[in-house]
Amino acid sequence: MSAPAAERGQWSSQIGFILAAAGSAVGLGNIWRFPYSAGESGGGAFVLLYLVCVLALGLPVMLLEISLGRATQKNPVGAIRAVRPNGPWKLLGYLAIATGLGILSFYAVIAGQVVAACVDFTQRIFTGRELFHSFGPTASIFFFALFTLLTVLVVAGGVQRGIERWAKILMPMLLVMMLAIIVRGLLLPGAGEGVAWLLRPDPSKITFEVVLEAMSQAFFSLSLGMGAMLTYGSYLSKKQNVLHCGGWVVFFDTLIAILAGLMIFPAVFALGQEPNAGPDLIFRVLPAVFGEMVGGTAVGAVFFFLLAVAALTSTVSLLEVVAAYFIDERGWSRTATVWAAGAVTVLVGLPSALSWVSADKEFFGWMDLLWVNLSLPFGALMLCLFATFVWGLRKASDEITSSSPEFRWMAPTWRFFVRVVCPIFIALILLTRFVPVDRLLRLLGGGT
Ligand code: TRP
Repeated sequence: MSAPAAERGQWSSQIGFILAAAGSAVGLGNIWRFPYSAGESGGGAFVLLYLVCVLALGLPVMLLEISLGRATQKNPVGAIRAVRPNGPWKLLGYLAIATGLGILSFYAVIAGQVVAACVDFTQRIFTGRELFHSFGPTASIFFFALFTLLTVLVVAGGVQRGIERWAKILMPMLLVMMLAIIVRGLLLPGAGEGVAWLLRPDPSKITFEVVLEAMSQAFFSLSLGMGAMLTYGSYLSKKQNVLHCGGWVVFFDTLIAILAGLMIFPAVFALGQEPNAGPDLIFRVLPAVFGEMVGGTAVGAVFFFLLAVAALTSTVSLLEVVAAYFIDERGWSRTATVWAAGAVTVLVGLPSALSWVSADKEFFGWMDLLWVNLSLPFGALMLCLFATFVWGLRKASDEITSSSPEFRWMAPTWRFFVRVVCPIFIALILLTRFVPVDRLLRLLGGGT
């Protein structure tokens, strides 16, 4: 049973949607994952590929998700059913729900670490001592469960009351804070090397693996490939401009990722740290930068607080997808749904929380590979195919044009990207994960 449209929440304004969607997009993906991916994948070359993926794949898929959501006013499963009531396509909707929980289950672990870092810095302001020298398994599980609880409480409040309010005040503060940290980092002796490393592409670093990582990072950072933007688009009214909304979100998100790179890498080089430290990167580098700042302890406490809020507006969007499905399609109450989903998240996430404090973070790496590198690109690919062969790209572009007349002249290019460029590119890059294309090419080229 679908809930009648009048009972579904709606954003109070276009800016409300942009802030909430930007809140979903901007999060640990930009500030934690982007720097460590770039660090592991060779700096400038990765950044360049990332920007190409954002423009060529992210922007088209963003407009597609928002328009399908707004056209159907439904969650991922409902949206697909509204277009094609029977048949296997609805599995794509279920994959979206599973991916939402899957990502949430490890994302909230990192978010918990951010809260722990905030508590740690706050404690130091008052006592001058560190609270936890290294976070053990108990702390990891505790902060993970705490963060999941916070997410549950916000999503229980519903679309407008819960989500919009947060994003409005705190996101701009995060931006200001980042600028201050960047300035401090750039003033460290030797920082210039880090800027060059980040912005000057070295073509020899480009491999299929790096392209897959850049593509996955683009989808992850923009919250694409699992119906989060689709669900947020479903709360958008017919008057609101899909093109502007999507464009702004992509712009903000990319800006914050690049700024995060500028916040981390000059400091990495100036302080003699390793860029490829892995998922721990920001947790090692930032405290060292704060150590160099006047009032650094307070800066650390505020920064990690704001980062936790940015993470919260992202986890909220992950849980909202799951909630929207159970509420719209199964008629569950919002409260029951979010508490049940929160409990499942904590159970599923326990191994990730334990793995995070282990030396090799192996399980954590598997979750990241499964959901971010495989599920998101696959979901985006399938959505493009669904739009091309089932929904119809005409209908999709009419949906966008109806509120953004200036989209008319871009529509043919957009349809070309959704029909041809995105599916072929995503499919090929995903295949390279399973087929050793590098080696085949070398064989064909007569190499060793
Ligand atoms: N984009 C968020 C970030 O960068 C994470 C996120 C929230 C997400 N919702 C999502 C990722 C949906 C993929 C799909 O931190």
